[in-house]
Amino acid sequence: MKFDILTLFPEMFSSVLNSSILNKAQEKDLIDINTINIRDYTTDKHNQADDYPYGGGAGMVMKAEPIFRAVDDLKLASRDIPVIFLTPQGDTFNQDMAKEFAEEKELILLCGHYEGVDQRVRDELVTYEVSIGDYVLTGGELPAMILVDAISRMIPGVLGSQESAIQDSFYGDVLDYPQYTRPQEYKGLKVPSVLLSGDHAKVDRWRRKKALKKTLFKRPDLLANASLSKDDKLLLAEIKEEINEEG
Ligand code: 6GU
Repeated sequence: MKFDILTLFPEMFSSVLNSSILNKAQEKDLIDINTINIRDYTTDKHNQADDYPYGGGAGMVMKAEPIFRAVDDLKLASRDIPVIFLTPQGDTFNQDMAKEFAEEKELILLCGHYEGVDQRVRDELVTYEVSIGDYVLTGGELPAMILVDAISRMIPGVLGSQESAIQDSFYGDVLDYPQYTRPQEYKGLKVPSVLLSGDHAKVDRWRRKKALKKTLFKRPDLLANASLSKDDKLLLAEIKEEINEEG
């Protein structure tokens, strides 16, 4: 998968995208991250990528021509690369979108800035407008990195076999169970004894129950859409009974 990131601030990307799993994915040629400075596609002597809004008002608007030129350049090789515009006005990004975008061979991510971008870019070039949540950031760079991360980890081979085994299972529909590592006791706080029992069936059941309980309390909306097994339904009935007993 190739990511073409169109931005006025390409220097923001290197530390995040060249570390850890995404760095390994690039070394293995599973992903290719291509940051492009929109300013390189300006043609005036001041390399101006933004300008005052027609009709007046505060702030600056990203100019259409450099963005059109940059996208045209990328599309020389392939005409049907989706263009994702990162904007708080977009559809809220989620795991299903990450999975779908991971099927593409190449994606263009356009990072918005200032007060916005010339509407002609949105009308003519943009395939999807995507937001990462209901809060306002100074620009689309951090959201673009979040998309690259979430999409990349859905590409086969990017995660190690252990990580992807967890991801592939139905465990993805609920929140995580609590994890512990050494020491067995810290500041008087003990690791639950079931995890030390060596009884794998018991451990699995305990973890699943904890995960279902946490999801029931914190994200009941997820449970409504989760693919629950017969055992899950039994565990949930147990959880609800325990809650009733506790009053
Ligand atoms: Cl994609 N951009 C900006 N500027 N702010 C945001 C966002 C995007 N998603 C949430 N807030």
